[in-house]
Amino acid sequence: MSPANKPALEVPVIDVSVLLKNADEASPEDLKICADELKAAVSSIGVFRISGHGISNEDQTDASDAVKSLFNVSEAEKHRLSVKANNIKSAAVARGYIGIGEESGSHRVEVKEGFSMGYRWDAVEAGFTPKPMGTKTRPVPETLNALQAVNVWPTEDHLDLQSRISMDSLFEHMTRVSQALVRGFSMAMGEEAGYLTPYCKGGENISLLRLFHYFPYSQYKSDQSVDVERIGSSPHTDWGFLTLIMEPGIGGLEVFHDGEWNTVPPVPGTLVCNVGDYFSMLTNGKFVSPLHKVVTGDEERYSIVYFYYPGYNSHIPQQTCSQDQEVPSSIRDGLKSYSLVTDQSANGADLDQSESITLDDVPFGTYIARKWEQVAR
Ligand SMILES: [Fe+2]
Repeated sequence: MSPANKPALEVPVIDVSVLLKNADEASPEDLKICADELKAAVSSIGVFRISGHGISNEDQTDASDAVKSLFNVSEAEKHRLSVKANNIKSAAVARGYIGIGEESGSHRVEVKEGFSMGYRWDAVEAGFTPKPMGTKTRPVPETLNALQAVNVWPTEDHLDLQSRISMDSLFEHMTRVSQALVRGFSMAMGEEAGYLTPYCKGGENISLLRLFHYFPYSQYKSDQSVDVERIGSSPHTDWGFLTLIMEPGIGGLEVFHDGEWNTVPPVPGTLVCNVGDYFSMLTNGKFVSPLHKVVTGDEERYSIVYFYYPGYNSHIPQQTCSQDQEVPSSIRDGLKSYSLVTDQSANGADLDQSESITLDDVPFGTYIARKWEQVAR
């Protein structure tokens, strides 16, 4: 079914500006209204749009332009930054250039190129030193972990410094919005605003900003004798705590809801937010991590996606979910189909849900480092 024939999902737009205010400036009534709206959205479809996020139209345009500039660099420069060409594994997969067909959550070819960046770690002799947002001090992290890596960028001959600054500042702003949403979600759960914060401690240091350039499917020429199935982004759920998407306004995102795929109509100036698997599991599935995909067909599309992760050492609450007798089996089964706990390697993505791999009792970050290897092609 083409996107034109699919139903359009009614995605609520929620003004989250009150969550970004200082605690003494936010009215309790406004906070309650916002938390109630968040609860309604994440309890049903798991996705909503946010306004009042504080990213000006000018900054959004700058970010959009920066993404286009970045994907306009020479093939040689892309190759220099390529995750695959450099045979980079695990943690550092999270940083650098990904070419067409080099990443997929299924057997399909995802006709897109991507570029990933994260927290501004600076390389130092003994490891990594974080540069905290808005400060010039450089405290050493408590521990080094497998998701710490230094960002890589095209040289200034290829990408102007302003584009890089624009991306760095967008990463920092997306982090602030995510942390504000976590406070809102805490209240949506009927708890104090700081309830979920411990799960996210240090998450900003391993979260990722991923830039995507989707091509018309016809531009991908298969070198295999049998034709391959093409898609923008395979059906999947997001692994982390929450995801924020800045998109260009031509659509392409689809969400599975009520037994069918729905388009998500663009609303200029807003960000899409969806719940991730980790947060959904934390709520025993009461908050939904929506199954979604990107269908681009003959359109060219750009998007900027921020994946907010819980802290590296936060444990994935899978066992709690599977043993909680109060959770309906439909929800428990749904949790088992989340991408976080399914095999997304080339031969594993379309296995029956009962074949889901067992979730090890490992820290979230260690587990995610392995997940990156599953989706590399
Ligand atoms: Fe996603």
